[in-house]
Amino acid sequence: MIEKSVDLKSYNTFGISALCNEFATFSSHDEISELLVQKESKELLVLGGGSNVLFTKNFQGIVLKNEIKGVSLISETENEVIVQCGAGEQWHSFVLRMIEKNYAGIENLSLIPGSVGASPMQNIGAYGVEIKDVFHSLEAFHIPTGEIHTFDAKDCAFGYRESIFKRALKNQYIITSVSLQLAKNGKVNTSYGAIESELAKMNVSNPTIRDISNAVIAIRSSKLPDPKKLGNAGSFFKNPVIQKTQLEKVLSIYPDAPNYPAGNEHVKIAAGWLIEKSGWKGKNIGTCGVHSLQALVLVNYGGSTGQEVLHLSTQIIQDVKNIFGIELEREVNII
Ligand code: FAD
Ligand code: EPU
Repeated sequence: MIEKSVDLKSYNTFGISALCNEFATFSSHDEISELLVQKESKELLVLGGGSNVLFTKNFQGIVLKNEIKGVSLISETENEVIVQCGAGEQWHSFVLRMIEKNYAGIENLSLIPGSVGASPMQNIGAYGVEIKDVFHSLEAFHIPTGEIHTFDAKDCAFGYRESIFKRALKNQYIITSVSLQLAKNGKVNTSYGAIESELAKMNVSNPTIRDISNAVIAIRSSKLPDPKKLGNAGSFFKNPVIQKTQLEKVLSIYPDAPNYPAGNEHVKIAAGWLIEKSGWKGKNIGTCGVHSLQALVLVNYGGSTGQEVLHLSTQIIQDVKNIFGIELEREVNII
């Protein structure tokens, strides 16, 4: 059923009010086909949990909310499984379900909000793992033809917070299921420094995948705001990838600037650190601001418009550029 003139406030974790002309949910390929025939609007936006979008104006089109459910075992060998998950399942619930089965690979991605279907969109990543590391394939509904196409990892052109669905194939596909290749006796990944220290705090020396998940949940809960209590969409900006020569300039003034390898000539520098050093951490403009525990996260204290948050982000970009000569890029999808 298509509803008219729906406020999207409860469908985005920023808690921003914005009207869409039409709104409907779908739970199968057939329902998508039916809705595409019934809709009046030309523009279309697929929404999962709305945890990576900022609505800056009313959306003059139809919003289709993904509710395709179901988890199934596609294949199993002595060491591995391939598990297919409906795109409308909640990502974190799926992670917990895999941990319950002792299937390793996505425990470091615990507590990321949103749907399974959006996870390949920006190749979600956290604590040393990206979904591309365990990705097998996905199925997607091709909007112009109604065909179902299968993509493997190469087809998805994954990068840091990137995939082909954000670039060349933007607005062409609705991802309907995602299949991951998980390990039955997998090794844990403790490469991200904060995990080791959290495990030490927990007095765990031989961590299981559940221990890793618990450590990640504890770290995340200590600094990332819970969208149910405070509107936000996680990191608002990407960590910029810069030339090593540019990093050297920063290090000559701030020898402790956090940075990570990114190929032979480039490094990633922590955007949260750049924003903090630019004086923005904990600052507000009206009802929106920069989170006091994680400067990469912009928050809506209640009543902000998307334009206000966008304006705040522009001011931050300008200041970081003026102070460090580094251009921040927004990570959140601006609608
Ligand atoms: P939505 O916000 O609904 O959609 C995001 C984009 O994907 C939109 O452009 C939408 O049109 C498109 N889209 C959604 N579903 C589909 C589909 N089925 N087919 C085609 N297009 C689709 N991200 C990380 O990578 N790592 C983190 O550690 C992380 N931490 C976060 C912490 C917090 C507190 C919050 C609020 C967000 C965080 N995020 C993180 C961002 C976000 O959770 C992820 O990007 C998540 O995958 C978004 O899922 P969603 O279903 O909410 O997507
Ligand atoms: N830092 C500061 N000040 C801050 C925030 C961070 O100095 O206000 C420093 C930290 O001290 C640390 C470094 O920056 O040295 C990195 O911080 P953190 O470990 O918190 O991670 P991040 O780089 O800020 C990225 C992702 C997160 C992901 C974490 C963990 C991006 C854009 N963000 O944040 O993803 O959860 O690493 O892997 O890559 C998201 O995408 O929404 C998101 C939350």
